[in-house]
Amino acid sequence: MGEIKPLHTLAVDIGGSGIKVMVLDDQGNPLTERDRVETPAIPTPDAVLHAIQGLTAGKTFDRVSVGFPGVVRKGITETAVNLHPDWVGFDLGAILEQQLGKPVRVANDADIQGLGAISGDGVELVLTLGTGIGSAMFLNGKLIPNLELGHHPFRKGETYEQQLGRATLDAVGKKRWNRRLERAIDLLERIFNYDHLYLGGGNTKRIDFVLPPNVKITPNVTGLLGGIALWQD
Ligand code: BGC
Repeated sequence: MGEIKPLHTLAVDIGGSGIKVMVLDDQGNPLTERDRVETPAIPTPDAVLHAIQGLTAGKTFDRVSVGFPGVVRKGITETAVNLHPDWVGFDLGAILEQQLGKPVRVANDADIQGLGAISGDGVELVLTLGTGIGSAMFLNGKLIPNLELGHHPFRKGETYEQQLGRATLDAVGKKRWNRRLERAIDLLERIFNYDHLYLGGGNTKRIDFVLPPNVKITPNVTGLLGGIALWQD
């Protein structure tokens, strides 16, 4: 009888500023360091696929999970406001499968971050603070995919992403950005009445106010670790 070999998953996180990868064991534990390259200056599908290819060098894996910064349905990327218009309607799942010769599953980046962060109990909301603003929502561990809060109006005729995204943080400074984030959390709590809110993404390190007890910061690596969940059913 042949032994059943545990499957290794290459987790990929495509972000507006960096592309990250890590190999996970069948339980979702890291088998490698997190590798990162800058997102190409003109992040077309070709350029990003090329960058991913480079990051796979020297790594062995059986399947691939990809977090993508836009709406994803059945492996097809439908929006990509912080990448490039060529992603609209792009069959990332199928094309990456051809390129890497392994099965690929793709989901929204905040959805994956959430899958790695949540407890599975009650209403859980995730907000990611990076180049863009990502969001994800769960009921008892079940994902409601592609929640796009980031592009919803927040205040002063601007969306959450316009008020809290990376470019705005740089433009308005940490103090105003923190004040806005505090307001956003207050508003989201009143809309969703969540049991837990998880804040992820690189800009969580800029938070300088005391968070309410039901709000937690989730580490950056969660965006990769959550990738294992795409293979759990
Ligand atoms: C996109 C979301 C994404 C978020 C974070 C937003 O601009 O619309 O789908 O999750 O950025 O990358």
